[in-house]
Amino acid sequence: MRDSTAQDLLRIVVLISGSGTNLQAMIDQIHQGDSPARIVAVISNKAEAYGLKRAQQAGIPAKVLSHRDYASREEYDAALQRLIDGYQPDLLVLAGFMRILTDDFVRHYQGRMINIHPSLLPRHKGLNTHQRALEAGDAEHGCSVHYVTPELDGGPVILQASVPVEASDTPESLAQKVHAQEHRIYPRVIEWIARGRVRLEEDTVLFDNQPINDQPRRATPD
Ligand code: GAR
Repeated sequence: MRDSTAQDLLRIVVLISGSGTNLQAMIDQIHQGDSPARIVAVISNKAEAYGLKRAQQAGIPAKVLSHRDYASREEYDAALQRLIDGYQPDLLVLAGFMRILTDDFVRHYQGRMINIHPSLLPRHKGLNTHQRALEAGDAEHGCSVHYVTPELDGGPVILQASVPVEASDTPESLAQKVHAQEHRIYPRVIEWIARGRVRLEEDTVLFDNQPINDQPRRATPD
């Protein structure tokens, strides 16, 4: 629930596991100017995640909750939920958080948890998406921001960005191109949510009150 004492700021908790370049893009773009969104905490399941340093440098509380300290996925997700809810977030943002989430956890945040995935969903759910796009001979590849539902990488898409696949591309070069697009679209979606332009109703994404499930928006190229 939104905290009415927080002057209508959208309180965001970001979950990471690694480098946190998407987190950095959010810090750079959202923590500037008059954005109605604020990252109130960054949580990593890995102590060595560089994203924790990025958070600290930006003055954002950074926490580690290691999955290795818990006997089961259910116990870890329950502890993670308690930690997250202590920050009273309006929006939970997965930014390279490389864990499968339990259905209970997903249901608890349904409609207020988003993820970025490095492919043009529904193509290439799961891992190694750049390699798989090359192997499939895809002419285009990209990234998708979507609401999280219990189906892995299967929740309704809010915004995508595409990149052309060139004959000379490698998984590494594609990853670089896709990352650059991720950094454009993820902060944009967060801004839309903070301004009330995007929301999930049942399993339908509404953009300016219009359903967009059948036609997820594509960011225009640079
Ligand atoms: C991003 O490319 C994101 O799409 C991917 O992890 C990377 C995190 O990079 N997420 C997934 O694959 C989730 N299935 P970052 O730590 O530099 O933001």
